[in-house]
Amino acid sequence: MLQNIIDELTLYEKMVLKGLESFNYETTPENIVESQNLNIKSVMSAAGALESKGLIEVQKDVDEVISLSNTGKEYAEEGLPERRLLKVLNDENEIPMKDLGTKADLDSSEVKIAIGWLLKKKWAIIDKGVVKITDEGRNAVSKEYSDELLLDKLLEVNKMLFFDPSKLIKEGFDLLKKRKGILDVKKEHKYYLKVTEKGKQLLDMGIELKEEATQLTHEQLKTGSWRDLKYRSYDVHAEHPETFPGKMHPLQRTIEDIRQIFLKMGFTESRGSILESAFWNFDCLFQPQDHAAREMQDTFYIKEPKNVNLPSNKLVENVRMAHETGGNTGSEGWGYSWDIEVAKQSVLRTHTTCVSARHLAEHEPPLKMFSVGRVFRRETITYKHLPEFHQVEGIIAAEDITFRNLLGILKEFYHKLGFEVRFRPAYFPYTYLSVECEIYLPHKETWIELGGAGMFRPEVLEPLGVETPVAAFGLGIERLAMLRLDIKDIRMLYKSDIGWLRHLPVKLD
Ligand code: DAH
Repeated sequence: MLQNIIDELTLYEKMVLKGLESFNYETTPENIVESQNLNIKSVMSAAGALESKGLIEVQKDVDEVISLSNTGKEYAEEGLPERRLLKVLNDENEIPMKDLGTKADLDSSEVKIAIGWLLKKKWAIIDKGVVKITDEGRNAVSKEYSDELLLDKLLEVNKMLFFDPSKLIKEGFDLLKKRKGILDVKKEHKYYLKVTEKGKQLLDMGIELKEEATQLTHEQLKTGSWRDLKYRSYDVHAEHPETFPGKMHPLQRTIEDIRQIFLKMGFTESRGSILESAFWNFDCLFQPQDHAAREMQDTFYIKEPKNVNLPSNKLVENVRMAHETGGNTGSEGWGYSWDIEVAKQSVLRTHTTCVSARHLAEHEPPLKMFSVGRVFRRETITYKHLPEFHQVEGIIAAEDITFRNLLGILKEFYHKLGFEVRFRPAYFPYTYLSVECEIYLPHKETWIELGGAGMFRPEVLEPLGVETPVAAFGLGIERLAMLRLDIKDIRMLYKSDIGWLRHLPVKLD
């Protein structure tokens, strides 16, 4: 284990560790730079790596440091402008303002500074355009002020910690900081490296410093000298940037998984169109024309095109009879006067059951068909409702198909997605017997409703000319996706939240 760690150390990491050992396990990076003859960058990056491996501790302190700017250095060497002016004044006693620059060899901006500070330090006064030295000024000629002492010191030592109790620096600092561009105050990071217990154990095992091969040359491969080179082991746990593979959107992923399940169960796939006539969406499913689901507040009716062409007269007439009297279905029908104009209205399909109805009108049993598609209902958007969502719909039509077969198929389907399912009696205008499917949520210990199923009624089958029993189901997909993704808000599926999407697994369980 420890040997593995040693094998994965870079040469620089080894040198830093060894360096620390020679300083009795702790010292500054600067000392390592010197003793190992490395540059500070290499030492710091090796130290970072050693720290992440738990072999050393890197302590960090921030110091506030003051040093001289270029102007500061110039002043330290040549004297502050007011000091230079004072010297000339001392010789001449008084100088007219206009001659100051030439006499004291100062440029115009320095003259301003010099006068300002001369007055502030009370070394001179101005009288009718003439600068005159004061007694205090004369005294100051042979004395250095605290700001000048600080400049001298900084010139000598280069930089000082700001936090220094000496009075000299405090006063000088207060004076100098009032002037722009003399002092640089900077934060400096100080590091201190200490070998940890683990690092010490490693050092005790002995670390050999040997040049490592990083890139092989043609020559080394040809001569076989690569065999004698030392290679560093890879650290497969090393940190790496996160990468996000491209992948399908989780809702589409769920749809694909569902498609695969039905295809593998031997179903064929069909599609319908989103724009549908009320006839296929409602009437031929024996949904009476005054049914609540047909109301404007539940269904989107389309203005353009307002109507959709109906299929053959015969089918339309059969449906009319089923609704009005039951026709040849053995039923009494709904007993009202069926209106073909209502059936012609175009709607956004409210379920995919219309795809099944169309399929039955065009195909002979035996058959197994499923379809996946978007459906639309006038719902207010909330965390669990959207006005458009997806359903998977299916039918199994054959002489010997039974209600129990239907339940078995649904059970099988949900098991393949990893869910426990149960059935509750339900009502749909187009099926008898009818059930609702519920799946179990173990962590919540509850069941939630995911779809409907049943045996199509004779009132549906007879007008379509279907003579075998037909088992049918229609299941919601979004809720299923929410359970698989463990999300509480259905809107997440449509939000394109890139952070969330990136961190999802490529394959959903
Ligand atoms: N169409 C129903 C719905 O949207 C679901 C449904 C129930 C579909 C029973 C069927 C079925 O095929 O037999 O809620």
